[in-house]
Amino acid sequence: MHLPDITAPFRPIHHIVAAGYGHRILLGALEIGLFDQLAKGPATVEELTMALDAGPVQTKALLETLVALALVETDGKSYQNTPSAQRYLVRASDACQAPFITMLTGLYETALADIPARMKTSEAEQKKTESLWAKPEALEGMGRASLRGPVQKALAFISDLPGFDGFSTLCDVGGNHGFYSMALLDANPGLTATVCDLPHVTGPAAELHKKYGYSERMTVQDLNLNTDAPEGAYDIVFASHILYAWSGRLIEVIRRLAQPLKPGGWLVLNHMAPTEGRPNLINALMNLHASLSGYPAHVLGSDELESATGECGLTAPRTSLDNDTWALLFAVQKPLG
Ligand SMILES: C[S@@+](CC[C@H](N)C(=O)[O-])C[C@H]1O[C@@H](n2cnc3c(N)ncnc32)[C@H](O)[C@@H]1O
Repeated sequence: MHLPDITAPFRPIHHIVAAGYGHRILLGALEIGLFDQLAKGPATVEELTMALDAGPVQTKALLETLVALALVETDGKSYQNTPSAQRYLVRASDACQAPFITMLTGLYETALADIPARMKTSEAEQKKTESLWAKPEALEGMGRASLRGPVQKALAFISDLPGFDGFSTLCDVGGNHGFYSMALLDANPGLTATVCDLPHVTGPAAELHKKYGYSERMTVQDLNLNTDAPEGAYDIVFASHILYAWSGRLIEVIRRLAQPLKPGGWLVLNHMAPTEGRPNLINALMNLHASLSGYPAHVLGSDELESATGECGLTAPRTSLDNDTWALLFAVQKPLG
């Protein structure tokens, strides 16, 4: 019998296969309310078995797997949520990310389950992805994701722009759930917002804005940015996680976004940026998912943004990079003269 040379470790590969089930374990634990139970306080296997109406063997095995995934911690007797699980996986938490996790895993499973067939994806895949943005779970999922930090960071960045307190009009392009607009409206009582999105998205979006009590200061406008510019005159045009569709040909779309800016107004962009050094798995996966879904990329670097906005006559670039999420906020001004 030939015995292969086994000096190279197999563990990194085995780890990938095992870790690939992490999201299924996470979704299962969410569904049975395990994090909700632990939110009440540390509990033993026996107590959780009773509360979840489950078997003790399965409960202990699931808890140990969640410890390995760093979602639960134990002192050897009882179990409790880690701070991340307590903040983001408990349904009663105002920062609960369950809707986002469900949305993201659904998107990834569809695209990544069929990598061989999608290695030469055409733009037709984009149309399928676009049809998803109007679904209640997409609005809710993206909205929840934005409340995990991106809205807070965009609010700090935009409210620091010179003259923010005197701004009266905001255009939120591809604004969907409108949570960025809502936070800016709260910060500036003189502001009104127009959320522009694809025609099939604006109806469900307006319903959500109404549900949150913003319909008096927020309106929606049908827009296809492939062909048209937003209508109106704005102090801020904000575009978050939409421009990646035009990566490599940004100038045409930035001209459309800059068109309705008042002189002295600001174009503010919010996008994933390329990571420095070794690719980080989250961003690399987003980029892979985008490419398998018919988009050129999911990341836009500040060099690309600065060069395209400069070509369009916009000046005074400002940037803020979040080193945790690698999201880049980028602002440029339309000259006054
Ligand atoms: C990834 S979501 C981002 C939503 C929100 N801006 C955020 O950052 O959470 C992209 C949004 O852009 C919209 N969108 C995509 N293509 C568009 C186009 N050609 N014209 C206008 N909106 C578009 C989608 O309908 C969707 O609401």
